[in-house]
Amino acid sequence: MEQVPEPCGIVIFGASGDLAHRKLLPSLLGLALENVLPKTCYIVGIGRTPMSDSQFQATVKTSLQKESGGNGRVPPGAIDDFVKRCTYLPGDYQDSAFYTQMKQKLAVLDQAHQISDRRIFYLSTPPSLYEIIPHQLAQAQMARPEGTSGWVRLIVEKPFGHDLASAMHLAQSLHQAFNEDQIYRIDHYLGKESVQNILMFRFANAIYEPIWNRKYIDHIQITAAESEGVGHRAGYYEEAGALRDMFQNHLLQLLSLVAMESPCSMDPECLRDEKAKVIKSLQPLTILDVAQQTVRGQYADYRREAGVNPRSTVETFAALRLGIDNWRWQGVPFYLRSGKCLAERITEISVQFKHVPSSVFKPLMADQLNSNVLNFRLQPNDGISLQFEAKHPGPKLCMSTVTMDFNYEEAFGTPPPEAYSRLFLDVMLGDQTLFARKDWLQGSWSFLEPLLDAWAEQKEKGLVTYPMGSWGPAEAEALIARDGREWLTK
Ligand SMILES: NC(=O)c1ccc[n+]([C@@H]2O[C@H](COP(=O)([O-])OP(=O)(O)OC[C@H]3O[C@@H](n4cnc5c(N)ncnc54)[C@H](OP(=O)(O)O)[C@@H]3O)[C@@H](O)[C@H]2O)c1
Repeated sequence: MEQVPEPCGIVIFGASGDLAHRKLLPSLLGLALENVLPKTCYIVGIGRTPMSDSQFQATVKTSLQKESGGNGRVPPGAIDDFVKRCTYLPGDYQDSAFYTQMKQKLAVLDQAHQISDRRIFYLSTPPSLYEIIPHQLAQAQMARPEGTSGWVRLIVEKPFGHDLASAMHLAQSLHQAFNEDQIYRIDHYLGKESVQNILMFRFANAIYEPIWNRKYIDHIQITAAESEGVGHRAGYYEEAGALRDMFQNHLLQLLSLVAMESPCSMDPECLRDEKAKVIKSLQPLTILDVAQQTVRGQYADYRREAGVNPRSTVETFAALRLGIDNWRWQGVPFYLRSGKCLAERITEISVQFKHVPSSVFKPLMADQLNSNVLNFRLQPNDGISLQFEAKHPGPKLCMSTVTMDFNYEEAFGTPPPEAYSRLFLDVMLGDQTLFARKDWLQGSWSFLEPLLDAWAEQKEKGLVTYPMGSWGPAEAEALIARDGREWLTK
C-alpha cells in the first residue's frame, strides 16, 4: 500500500462486537503490518460492557490471533505492539456525562500521542444508536475539529435505514451533527480490490469502452451467492431480508460501477456523480414489473432457524430483471440475484456480448455460435476471464469455447488486501471515493421502495421455497429463460 496518513485517534463504538473483532481491528493490524498506520495512531474501544484497558487488550489480542491464525505475515510481537495502542471506555450512550468523560480521555490520549485535532468515530453498534451517538458527539463539541487544520470523520456501517423515509431521516439526523464531507457510509464490497478493478479495467484500457453499450452487449448479470444460512444474525435478517441486506447496497453499487459513464477524473465527487446518475436512471418498477420481473424466495429450512419467526415471510433470495433508461443501456436487461444457502459462495458480474451478426461457419448459424462473456469474479479467486470461440483440433468446423484468465493472486503474487483495510486507509486520507453519497443512497432506496412495499403487502403470496444448496427457486431460472437466456454462474 501507499501513502501514510497523518496520525489520528480512532474511536470504535461497539468495540466488543462481532464486526470490530472479526474485521475492524484485524484490518487496522493489517495496516500496521504494511507500515501505513502511523506509529502514533491510537484506538479507543467504546461499549457498555464494563472492561478495563487490559481486559479489552486481552480480548483484542485473542481475536487478532484467531483472525490471523497461522498467517505467516504476522511477525512475532506485532500483535502485542498493536494491542498496546488500544484502550477502552465503558459507558451509557444516552448519558451526556459519558461523552464529557470521552472528550477528556481523548484529550489526554491526543496529548500523549502528540495528535492534534484528527479523529475518526466508527459506528459499529446496532443501527438504533446511529442517531443518538452523533447527536451526543455534537452536543459535546466533538463533531467538528477545534482548529482549522484538523478533521473529524464519522464512519457509518450499513444498514443506512430500513426504507427510503428512514434512510432520509437518518441522513438528516447525521447532517445535524456532521457535514456530508465528514460522513463515510461504508460498503465493504467497494473496498475489494477486484471491485475497484472494474474501474481500471473499463477506463484504463482502450479496447472495451467502445463496445460497452447496447450495440454490442446483450445483457449483464450480477450474482452474489452465499452458501451459508442466516447463522447467528437471524434477529437482524428478520428485519432486513435479501433486498435490504444485499441489493440496496452491494448489488446496486456493483451495477453502478459496471454501467456508469467515464468520470471526469478520479476525484471522489466526479466518480460519485456518475454512480448517482446510473441509480437515478434505473427504470422504476411498476406493479406489473413486480409480478413479472422479480422473484422472491426463502430457503427450505429458514423458518426452523434459531431466532426466526416460524411463519416468517422474509426473503432469503431475490432475483430482479431491471433496465437503465439512458442512451448507453436502453434495451439491455440487467439480471441481479442474491441469496443465502445457495450452492456456492461466489460473487460475479457477467457481461454477455451479442452474437456475431452473421455466420461464415455454415451450417452453423450466427445464434448457434456462443457469444463472448466477460466475467468479473469478485470472490473467491478474484479475477477476470473472457470466453471466446476457438478452433478445436479436428474437422474443419470443430469449435469450442475457451477462456482467457486473469487471477489476481497469481498475477500479483499476493492475495488481495482486506477490504476494510483499504477503506480505513481511505478514511484516514480523507478520500470518499469508495463511500456511498446521500443522493446515491436516496436513489437506491427510491428504486427498491415499490418492490419492498409490494412484497410486504403480498406476505406469503408469491414467496417460493427453494432447496438448500441449490441455485435458488425454479422461478428465477424461468425469469431469465423467458428472455431466452440462462444464468451464467452455476
Ligand atoms: N458483523 C458483520 O459482519 C456486519 C457486516 C456488515 C454490517 N454490520 C453492521 O455493523 C454494526 C455492528 O455489527 P456487529 O455484528 O458487531 O453487531 P453486534 O455484535 O450485535 O453489536 C456490536 C456491539 O454493540 C453493542 N450493543 C449491542 N446491542 C446494543 C444495544 N441494544 N444498545 C447498545 N449497545 C448495544 C454491544 O456491545 P456492548 O454490549 O459492550 O455495548 C455489541 O458488542 C451493525 O449495525 C451491523 O448491522 C455488521
